[in-house]
Amino acid sequence: MSSFNFMNKTTYFQLAVFIVLIITSLVYSACRHEPDIFIEDKPIISTNCSSDTVYFQNEILPLLLSTCATSGCHNAIDAKEGIVLVDYPSVIKFGGINFEHPEESEIYEVLSSDDDRMPPPPAPEWSAEQKDILLNWIKQGAINNECQQLECDTINITYPETIIPILQNNCYSCHNELIQEGGVNLKDYETVSEISQNGKLLGMIKRLNGYSPMPPNQELDLCSVQQIESWINDTTFIPPGGGNDHPCDPDTVYFQNEILPLLLSSCATTGCHDEQTAEDGVVLVDYASIIETGKIKPGDPDDSELYEVLFEDDPEERMPPSPKKPLTPEQKSLIEKWILQGAKNNYCDADCDTTNVTFSGSVWPVMQTNCVGCHSGGNPSGDILITNYEEVALLVDNGYLMGVIKQEGEYKPMPPNGAKLSDCDIATIEIWIKNGKPND
Ligand code: HEC
Ligand code: HEC
Repeated sequence: MSSFNFMNKTTYFQLAVFIVLIITSLVYSACRHEPDIFIEDKPIISTNCSSDTVYFQNEILPLLLSTCATSGCHNAIDAKEGIVLVDYPSVIKFGGINFEHPEESEIYEVLSSDDDRMPPPPAPEWSAEQKDILLNWIKQGAINNECQQLECDTINITYPETIIPILQNNCYSCHNELIQEGGVNLKDYETVSEISQNGKLLGMIKRLNGYSPMPPNQELDLCSVQQIESWINDTTFIPPGGGNDHPCDPDTVYFQNEILPLLLSSCATTGCHDEQTAEDGVVLVDYASIIETGKIKPGDPDDSELYEVLFEDDPEERMPPSPKKPLTPEQKSLIEKWILQGAKNNYCDADCDTTNVTFSGSVWPVMQTNCVGCHSGGNPSGDILITNYEEVALLVDNGYLMGVIKQEGEYKPMPPNGAKLSDCDIATIEIWIKNGKPND
């Protein structure tokens, strides 16, 4: 009984509090008038920037300029539907920012609208991350802030962590798979590599004479320009059609010569990390995909996933997984050294030494880097084993070896998928065969 009474009292009390609250809030909202938004058009500059803060001038404005303030849309001249989104005051004026319910802000809602999504198709939808950045900026008060980091880090630069974000914020909107202004898709690493080598990329972002200034509507910030420049200077891009002005330094591990062929033959195999299978989302077919999905931290092998998985105890978790053989200690230390040296996309023109050709010193290392990964273990590709001298000798005798590596005639080209041994490797193997394929 007493507990029943108690309940009743509590309920009455709660009801009373509730009514008082409602009255208070009615009175409050009746007296309050909408705050006049003071549109500050000079950004608040922060030199000690926080990674938790979204900066309008650095992150929001470039996105709006490249995806909304484009010609025919919301630039100052065309002002589609009377809406202009070119600077802070115009974004506040036309963006329908809802400070109390940020996710109901018009400028945010239209990004995901079913009927009239902005930017309208075929322009790509903003990515989930880009939408989140905008929402966070509104949640943080939609202020006109700017980060002017005094220090620009031009040392720790990697393609996925430094260059891709710059391109994503400033270029992808006009240069992606669907929209290729000027015929250019900048999500394609080969394209970026090409315009980096021929000077076009720097010419454009530095707005030099003779280049179309990119991005067209606003200048890239100075730090991004410096970072791109430093990345280009530190990268040895493979010259189109090879070249011979990149001598090999014996203490350097070269990605294109040593790491890529090893990963292609040991990891990018059918059913594993080729583009079609992409097991666990990991693709290991070229520099960009290896750095990104292999989660390589330049300079830090122990924090690089691709390196760590080579050492897993569980043979199913270890890469390449059982029944494939683990990489050899030499192969593992090659990868370690390459990461320690900065995991660069480098290349060198090896001098072709054909004087002391031996099986163990010349032929077998080529097989190990380029063939063994697919042609070993319990289920070798094409039912062909390449794990020792006898098996290689057999392929010499039946004519297959030279056929597949020269990629001639009826033979299946090996390694597959457009890769080919270097002229030097092919010449070396040919000499070894001419010498009578000694097991030396
Ligand atoms: C608002 C859209 C837009 C943005 C953003 C943009 N571009 Fe462009 N881009 C164009 C248009 C339009 C063309 C073709 C006309 C021209 O060449 O001026 C073009 C052409 C190009 C070309 C080929 C031009 C040539 O001479 O071969 C390259 C390369 C390029 N842009 C790179 C970039 C880079 C790098 C960025 C980012 C830093 C960028 N663009 C940002 C619109 C854009
Ligand atoms: C990415 C995996 C992969 C790599 C690396 C690879 N192979 Fe193959 N290889 C295959 C597959 C798969 C087949 C079966 C071909 C088919 O049926 O299309 C095959 C078939 C072959 C054949 C039989 C060819 C034929 O015409 O029937 C030979 C010989 C061969 N490989 C040798 C090599 C040599 C030598 C290398 C290194 C230079 C190499 N492979 C590298 C996957 C690979």
